[in-house]
Amino acid sequence: MNNIKHLIDPMDLSIMELEDILGLANDIMKNPKEYSHLLSGKILATLFYEPSTRTRFSFEAAMMKLGGNILGFSEPNSSSVSKGESLSDTIKIVSTYADIIAMRHPKEGSAKVATIYSSVPIINAGDGGHQHPTQTLTDLLTIKSLKENLEGHVIGICGDLKFGRTVHSLIKAISRYKNNKIILISPEELTIPQYIRDEILIKENIPFIEVERLEDVIDKLDILYMTRVQKERFFNEEDYIRLKDSYILDQSKMSKAKKDMIVLHPLPRVNEIAQEVDKDPRACYFKQAEYGMYVRMALILKLLEVR
Ligand code: CP
Repeated sequence: MNNIKHLIDPMDLSIMELEDILGLANDIMKNPKEYSHLLSGKILATLFYEPSTRTRFSFEAAMMKLGGNILGFSEPNSSSVSKGESLSDTIKIVSTYADIIAMRHPKEGSAKVATIYSSVPIINAGDGGHQHPTQTLTDLLTIKSLKENLEGHVIGICGDLKFGRTVHSLIKAISRYKNNKIILISPEELTIPQYIRDEILIKENIPFIEVERLEDVIDKLDILYMTRVQKERFFNEEDYIRLKDSYILDQSKMSKAKKDMIVLHPLPRVNEIAQEVDKDPRACYFKQAEYGMYVRMALILKLLEVR
């Protein structure tokens, strides 16, 4: 065992560490030049066994904006994974070349396994349908920046709550802040996993309800967190086709929402937010993706213990 700090699950960070990272991200946004050379000579490896736009590019942009360098793959078949190399061997090797690793993998628990073999910090950039803690840091920074604090909100989480790893991580993290109420909106087949209901919402006494219709609750929400139905996690294409358009947020639904509600989405979106909503000032999902780069800059600095 060693004392390297990894980020695999949002609960790996204490509230104080979370606040530190959000505060640092805020300072980076205000004073980017002060941070632009801090990681000169350091290398981030991005090992993406699954596709990504925001997470990989924002990690790589984050490292470059800190003065560091990057290496890695966005397609495992371009590496020796295609010859059958194991995750453990890949991690052992890459951790001798890089100072920190961000990895995404389709198997739940893979990032945790990587920590056993790594001599440098591992960041979970998404493990199957399990967790996506850096998306949660992005979500928290967005909420804190746009709604001023992380407490006292009615948060609607809508879509694929079963396979949506961003949802699982967000519920874990937001449950640590006071006076939030959560409204879970999903078809019956895509409700949250039982362990999230039992081990987080019920155990922590978080007020929550589960409903099927977005129209019935949209007027009560301070934050609406939309999610995509995760095609890649379905075993049966017929089920995906039946469920994929369960929710489509359009201007007609937005007209029933509060004037200061914000709409978030981890992206990518497919059909669940109509493009006409993009023009609505309450649509904050593109700004959210930008916050993701700043919070990843802060996270890298924290895990490398710089400043
Ligand atoms: N939010 C998110 O994880 O997006 P990508 O899949 O594009 O990285």
